[in-house]
Amino acid sequence: MLQDLVKQCTPLPPNAKLLVLGGGFSGQHVAALAKRLGSNVICSRRKKDKPGANVVFDSATKQTPAPTALKEITHLISCIPPEANGEDPVISLLSKQLHDMPLQWVGYLSTTGVYGDHKGNWVTEADLPRPQQLRSKRRLSCEQAWQASGLPVQILRLPGIYGPGRSALEAINKGKSKMIDKPGQVFSRIHVDDIAGAIFHLIKLASTGIKPKIINVADNQPSTNVEVLEYAASLLGSSLPPIQPFEIASKEMSPMALSFWEENRRVSNQMLCKKLGYPLLHPNYQVGLRDCLNQRNQSSSYSSFVDFE
Ligand SMILES: NC(=O)c1ccc[n+]([C@@H]2O[C@H](COP(=O)([O-])OP(=O)(O)OC[C@H]3O[C@@H](n4cnc5c(N)ncnc54)[C@H](OP(=O)(O)O)[C@@H]3O)[C@@H](O)[C@H]2O)c1
Repeated sequence: MLQDLVKQCTPLPPNAKLLVLGGGFSGQHVAALAKRLGSNVICSRRKKDKPGANVVFDSATKQTPAPTALKEITHLISCIPPEANGEDPVISLLSKQLHDMPLQWVGYLSTTGVYGDHKGNWVTEADLPRPQQLRSKRRLSCEQAWQASGLPVQILRLPGIYGPGRSALEAINKGKSKMIDKPGQVFSRIHVDDIAGAIFHLIKLASTGIKPKIINVADNQPSTNVEVLEYAASLLGSSLPPIQPFEIASKEMSPMALSFWEENRRVSNQMLCKKLGYPLLHPNYQVGLRDCLNQRNQSSSYSSFVDFE
């Protein structure tokens, strides 16, 4: 829970101000943590009337925040995905403004999809990217654009993101869960709390000069889809559909769904957790899903967006 993170995170310095570009699922969590820590934070969304939107940034309409709204930003996290042409929307449209800001730290949320298929083996930051899917090639070109920007950038590579309002619990409740068995196939995951926690941990370390360029942000336990659904169903007391072999299930999958099953890797978090000392709040899906259920039970009107007023 966010309140547990508050205990382990250090606020930004009093004169610092964080800009969250893309206050979606992860971005709102980061902004909410910053607020709870008493740090200054503003957040962009594509529409002013969306929850948590302090400024509007939309690359499709080329609407950018007024320079005055950004002038005191010292820390920036971009949670915005690549454009269809592989360009990064922030680098394309805000580069000049970014260089005018007194930026001390910049984070970019990327994906572990850039590693490509590793046939179920562990991947670390030392592995060269070998993206296979078009979306992962685009992502790598955005990483490269950020790294070439001359800004003080750290790239955070994320596997599947889950958290309250967006987890296997919702998939089961909506009757959307599919029990697909592909022997040896695992997926890595990260709870959204630990994305926010890792960002504050990395900001603190960067201020002491410790700043690796690329960091995987994943939990300790890559697992099969079936294991996660079975655990979620046991928490809910729900039943699940029968297990289907991948060969049969794949015949009805969308190309997008199929593409996720074409790659198999275990994402190592040794750099983040061992070398950089980040203590995961949700080290595996069991702890993370229990948290999702607890949070849902605490608020009957829970929405996927946290308390970012
Ligand atoms: N979901 C996953 O499992 C996963 C896994 C690995 C990496 N990632 C990546 O990690 C990042 C954060 O993920 P998330 O799931 O938290 O994302 P999300 O909830 O989809 O939020 C994405 C944010 O980007 C904004 N955005 C999208 N297109 C934009 C554009 N053209 N111009 C300006 N803003 C735009 C959205 O604006 P609005 O708020 O107005 O919608 C939203 O705030 C994303 O880049 C995502 O691709 C996701």
